[in-house]
Amino acid sequence: MNPKPNIVDLPVYKPGKPIDEVKKELGLNEVIKLASNENPYGTSPKAKAAIIADLDNLYLYPDGSAAELTEALTAHLGVGKDQIIFGCGSDEIIALIARAFFVPGDETIMADQTFSVYKSNADIEGAVTIEVPLVEGTHDLDGMLGAITDRTKVIWVCNPNNPTGTIVSGEALTTFLDAVPSQVMVVLDEAYYEYVTDLSYSNGIDLLGQYPNLVVLRTFSKIYGLAALRIGYGVASPQIIRLINQVREPFNTSRLAQAGALAALADQEYVEECRRLNSAGILQLQDDFKRLGLNAFPAHGNFIMVDVRKPAYDVFEALLRQGIIVRAGHKLYPTYIRVTVGSAEQNKAFIAALELVLREQGVRA
Ligand SMILES: Cc1ncc(COP(=O)(O)O)c(C=O)c1O
Repeated sequence: MNPKPNIVDLPVYKPGKPIDEVKKELGLNEVIKLASNENPYGTSPKAKAAIIADLDNLYLYPDGSAAELTEALTAHLGVGKDQIIFGCGSDEIIALIARAFFVPGDETIMADQTFSVYKSNADIEGAVTIEVPLVEGTHDLDGMLGAITDRTKVIWVCNPNNPTGTIVSGEALTTFLDAVPSQVMVVLDEAYYEYVTDLSYSNGIDLLGQYPNLVVLRTFSKIYGLAALRIGYGVASPQIIRLINQVREPFNTSRLAQAGALAALADQEYVEECRRLNSAGILQLQDDFKRLGLNAFPAHGNFIMVDVRKPAYDVFEALLRQGIIVRAGHKLYPTYIRVTVGSAEQNKAFIAALELVLREQGVRA
């Protein structure tokens, strides 16, 4: 067999450890997963009801054009119906952009520590990734501009950035977009958009009219609590959306995903409540980190990256034995763990476990 040479050494994506696996491996009854930035409050009850109501229709194919959801979401966002594309998670939109735009030898620019799916899809298509170092955990937009060549096809800006949780301001973003040549696509990944409360943050959708080379990614997996159903979307000019649509499989989002997303979108009260609780959770964790003498990056999504001043894998393993799953393994931050902001109770349990683990490992406050 002869696979594409550029995929032979690709790592397989390692997701956060599943709760049931950890329970079984370690013989634990209670496990708290704070590893994949899921919504700790679950799915809106209205979305659950809509999903259950659609169960009688499982024998029918979904609407490949997601017409009803398109109607509702484009009205909510204030964009045209030809400006949106849905995917099996925003992961799929990333893959479709790579499939539609990259030819081997193209260059693509991203931060040196950001969402790994950008690079893996660039690798699959034979594009060359140019990594620009984060500065204090934040995108260096000037550095990214400096990395543009005549081979640059796509620049990825993750805002808030996964895993550091930092944002670039609206002002910095528009200065950057003004300077990016019009033939270079900028993908602004706003998977955590709904969580951000910082006033300097911009809504990428508002910039689309001004920048025809901009694509904004959003998802129903995070604040909308529908990660299991796999539905996310991209918003851009009709020309870009048409091109991405041309490489999309016909039935890439399921009936249940569309029904759940439609009802979740209508329940903005639930979204607001989750945002409020998340902001309170960030403050709770930041206070505790301060008390423990640990530095964390400013958090704007539903996760915090904190320096535990010990090899992150050791702390990850020790927390796992306490029934808490977090994320380690960030190549440039070997002493940092990324923890999802949980409910107040979950955060309390995490901090208690962390204190214990750090005491055992000789880290002093
Ligand atoms: C920055 C970012 N973008 C995209 C995604 C993909 O989300 P989904 O495919 O569930 O929509 C994630 C998931 O963790 C993410 O953190």
